[in-house]
Amino acid sequence: MPTRTTTDVTHYHVQKNRRAKFLEDWRTNHRDIVTPEDAVLHDSPRGSRIGVYVGADGDRPTRTMDALVHEFAPGTRTTIHRHSWDAMVFVVGGWGWTEIDGELIEWGPGDSLHLPSWAWHRSGNHGTETARYLTFSSEPMLDTMGLSVLEDAGDAAAEDLPGRPAYTGDLSGDDPYARRVRRVGREQQSRRTGRLHTSWDDLELLNTPRGTRTTFLLDRAIGYQASGITMAMFEIGPGRGQSMHRHPGEAWLYVVEGRGHSYLGTEPEGGEEHPWKKGDLIVVDHFLWHQHFNDDPDNTAKVVRIHMFDSLLETMRVLTDPLVLFEEPPEHIRDKQAGDPSSIEWPPLERPTWP
Ligand SMILES: [Fe+2]
Ligand SMILES: [Fe+2]
Repeated sequence: MPTRTTTDVTHYHVQKNRRAKFLEDWRTNHRDIVTPEDAVLHDSPRGSRIGVYVGADGDRPTRTMDALVHEFAPGTRTTIHRHSWDAMVFVVGGWGWTEIDGELIEWGPGDSLHLPSWAWHRSGNHGTETARYLTFSSEPMLDTMGLSVLEDAGDAAAEDLPGRPAYTGDLSGDDPYARRVRRVGREQQSRRTGRLHTSWDDLELLNTPRGTRTTFLLDRAIGYQASGITMAMFEIGPGRGQSMHRHPGEAWLYVVEGRGHSYLGTEPEGGEEHPWKKGDLIVVDHFLWHQHFNDDPDNTAKVVRIHMFDSLLETMRVLTDPLVLFEEPPEHIRDKQAGDPSSIEWPPLERPTWP
């Protein structure tokens, strides 16, 4: 390996070209609405069928998270595997189970799970209908740092496999090394004791000033210890909308039930309207102003939103301070857009169905 740097062009020009190309690629890859038809399912050696809503392996590269769909035929189960990234699961149809580091969790439509990094996991379908879930993982973000690692152990039993990487949690001393060992150890300790499952039956949606009613699905507020990906669900009243706002992507909305449209624009006016329906993924990137509307005059619409506010977005906030990264209209305009959610008669919460 030569150790002497011998480029003919300056650091400045290399960097400038590279950065321009990077942004150009990002803009070219942008999607507004990704439909289930776009996420073509493929048989996989894992034993499940897998499709990509957004992610490099479906030729729609992303930077922080990816969104995949997995389908399980009745009576089948996948290989067991683990990886350096974590993933959020949202079940959209069927009844099945997931084993996480030897712990068996049964799930049904509308349930959410967390697959922690380095935890061995596999899923199966013990029902009579096809089961299907979506996963949202932090793999793209780890990939940007060269930290993506995946290990597939086929049909091995969890108890025969090595546990998560060992760590040293305890070392006395007030020097920087001992302090780092203890700090990193404490972090691992808490990361390995987070919650793994939210049942649909336990959800309780509450009205918000944005004109919707919402609940957390997977979030540190309810005991999860994830990479910063959080999942919440919101419901929009018949014919109503959520108030407009903007923030950096990647923020996605998976349409669980209903149909509507989203406004996306670089300004609060003059942008484009994008229709969506059940099964679609609404992609909110590029710091666009956006507003989501339920176009059904009789039924509510339910949407699961996924983003990485608890890690990446927090980091961006301090790195770009004093830029404001979350904007919404003044309160009187927001309230007018949102309407009064308490005037909506919300239907009982029923588990989603697929298709
Ligand atoms: Fe996995
Ligand atoms: Fe948003």
